[in-house]
Amino acid sequence: MKIVTALLFSIFASSAQSAICPILSTPSYGTKDAIFTACSNITIDAPADLVYKILTDFDSYHEWNTFVVNVELLSTPPYQVGSRMRFTDANLFPLFNTTSDEIITSLSPENTTAVWRYDIPTPALILAEHVSQLTSLGESQSFYNSWETYYRAASLLVDITLQEKLISAFEQQGKDLKQRAESLQTTKA
Ligand SMILES: *[C@@H]1O[C@H](CO)[C@@H](O)[C@H](O)[C@H]1NC(C)=O
Ligand SMILES: *[C@@H]1O[C@H](CO)[C@@H](O)[C@H](O)[C@H]1NC(C)=O
Ligand SMILES: *[C@@H]1O[C@H](CO)[C@@H](O)[C@H](O)[C@H]1NC(C)=O
Repeated sequence: MKIVTALLFSIFASSAQSAICPILSTPSYGTKDAIFTACSNITIDAPADLVYKILTDFDSYHEWNTFVVNVELLSTPPYQVGSRMRFTDANLFPLFNTTSDEIITSLSPENTTAVWRYDIPTPALILAEHVSQLTSLGESQSFYNSWETYYRAASLLVDITLQEKLISAFEQQGKDLKQRAESLQTTKA
C-alpha cells in the first residue's frame, strides 16, 4: 500500500523542537518558515565523482538504497533540472511504503552536488528541499553531506517521531551509498 507524503504529513499533530541538526538553508527556500532539517554525513572511500554518479543514477536506486527503494521518472528522459520523479520510500512506517513526488532543482557534476525538492500538491501543506553534496577528500575518498529542510507552507506541525525516522532513514541512506561506492571501488581496483 502506498500513500502520498502530503497525506502522511497532514495526519501529524504534535510539536517540533529538538531536531538533531540545526536548520540548514536550501537553494530554493532559504531558511524562512523552516520547521526542521534532517541531515546526515559520512566519509566514503571512493572518489567524489563516482559517488555523485551513483547518487544521480536514480534508475539504479533499487539496487542499493534501503530508504528510497525505487525511483520512477515521471517526465521525459533524461533526468535533468525540472524532471519530475516519484520516490518510493521504505522504513518510515512499518507496514507500508510511502511515495513522494520530487522535482530536480539542480544537478552539478562540477560541484558534485544534486538538489531536489518536494513536488507540492495544491494546496501545499509542506515544502521540502534535499541537498546532497560530495566533497573530494583526495583521489579515493570523499565526504557525503546531505540535508533536507522542511518548511511550513500552511499552519502545520510535524510529529517529532517522524523527524527521528527521517533522520535515521537519511543516515541509513548515507551508509548504503558508502557501501555501494566502496564495493564498486573494490571491484575496479
Ligand atoms: C555531520 O553530522 C553531524 C550529526 O550527525 C553534525 O553534528 C555535523 O555538524 C555534520 N558535519 C557537517 C560538516 O555537516
Ligand atoms: C516496499 O518496497 C520494497 C521494494 O520495492 C518491497 O520489497 C517491499 O516489499 C515493500 N514493502 C511493503 C510493506 O510494501
Ligand atoms: C559550483 O560552485 C561554485 C562555487 O560555489 C558556483 O559559483 C558555481 O555556480 C557552481 N556551479 C554549478 C554548475 O552549480
